[in-house]
Amino acid sequence: MKNTKNPSTQAMNTLLSVYTVMSQNARFCHWNVVWPHFEDDHEFFGDLYDELSESVDLFAERVRALREYPVSSLAGILKHANIAEYELPMTARNMQKNMLRDYEALSTLMAELAERTSDDVVTQDIIVGEKRQIDKRAWMMRAMLGE
Ligand SMILES: [Fe+2]
Repeated sequence: MKNTKNPSTQAMNTLLSVYTVMSQNARFCHWNVVWPHFEDDHEFFGDLYDELSESVDLFAERVRALREYPVSSLAGILKHANIAEYELPMTARNMQKNMLRDYEALSTLMAELAERTSDDVVTQDIIVGEKRQIDKRAWMMRAMLGE
């Protein structure tokens, strides 16, 4: 894949990569979470997985609409995403804390990417719309943690 300098493509490829790793991390939590609130946590992390993986498609298809190519391999995604994959053992509370940390970092990244794409309002609108949901989920996780 050729390296593009288009800030819109760069932003979309960064987000599709970060979201892919984060969706797998959400699935990791959905599968592996245990006591003390299994049912609630299992469902919450499952919802995060669904949301994040759906957005990946939105980012990738925007890249195609811009006549370029999305990062499409797992190796490429891992190289592109500056985010750690989760590993066991991890308590339910640490899953919530780690996920919140990653959501807050993502929110900051998205604010920067929204500024960098101000010449392309359609891409910028995608970023802003997605950021709204990331911020809402971050609030919910702070509430779950009692913060
Ligand atoms: Fe499931």
